Amino acid sequence: PDRYAVMGNPIDHSKSPQIHTLFARQTHQHLVYEAIRVEPGHLATAIALFRQAGGQGLNITVPFKQDAWRLAEVLNPRAERAGAVNTLLWGNDGRLIGDNTDGIGLVRDLTENLEQVLTDRRILLLGAGGAARGVIGPLLETHPAGLRIANRTAEKARELAGVFQDAGNVEGSGLDELADNRFDLIINATAAGLDSEVPAIPTSIIGEHCCCYDLMYASQPTAFVQWARNHGAALAIDGLGMLVEQAAESFYLWRGLRPDTPPVIAALRSGL
Ligand code: ATR
Repeated sequence: PDRYAVMGNPIDHSKSPQIHTLFARQTHQHLVYEAIRVEPGHLATAIALFRQAGGQGLNITVPFKQDAWRLAEVLNPRAERAGAVNTLLWGNDGRLIGDNTDGIGLVRDLTENLEQVLTDRRILLLGAGGAARGVIGPLLETHPAGLRIANRTAEKARELAGVFQDAGNVEGSGLDELADNRFDLIINATAAGLDSEVPAIPTSIIGEHCCCYDLMYASQPTAFVQWARNHGAALAIDGLGMLVEQAAESFYLWRGLRPDTPPVIAALRSGL
């Protein structure tokens, strides 16, 4: 069988092997997909060894997405812009190609699975780290009315907005500059949830029919999802769907086939 893997650290709780195994079964592809823990500083060696052993493609997760971006010999445009790579494959010429499917994964979950309209809507993205950066390009491609990036450290949000200035109506600010705004979609891309915290945002920013989306997921509702539910969001959901959708796009890059994602999302949800 063809070999694929996800590399990260920690990697034990990765759901990618399960997701890709379900995709392979569904599409009758003969492949194996494993999880490989890589020590910091050893990504290049791990990738080379995997290739020598017949590896066909890789997913890259925390904390190596920026390292993978530097190591890729060819970057697809969406990965170039994201400053991070979550999918690697080798071209016919043997060169290492880097792509990023996180942003398209988020947009597909929102628009296809959750049937949200993004065009002409006011979007708020909380956070200005790697996770936030990875989704900005694909979000802007949906032509929202505007994308506000708000971060605890305002300067980082302004800088990030500057990077995407030519791609759409995007501005950056601090969390404390949100009070007079209402949004139709609020996306949490901060790491606050790792400490069961919610960014310091006013509840008044939740617009009518507002969808609140957490890039994090867990077996229990995340702190941000609970916050959104408690304050009247029309829809509050975690990032499990995005996880499956980004995997589906990687699978498509590798195999040329699009798996049917809803049953896989359902299977994972029931197993959480
Ligand atoms: P990631 O790759 O997950 O994005 P990161 O690059 O370290 O991780 O970025 C973490 C993000 O979460 C940052 O935007 C950070 O805000 P700062 O830039 O001000 O540090 C944000 N963050 C982390 N903990 C937070 C908290 N308790 N409240 C609000 N924002 C938080």
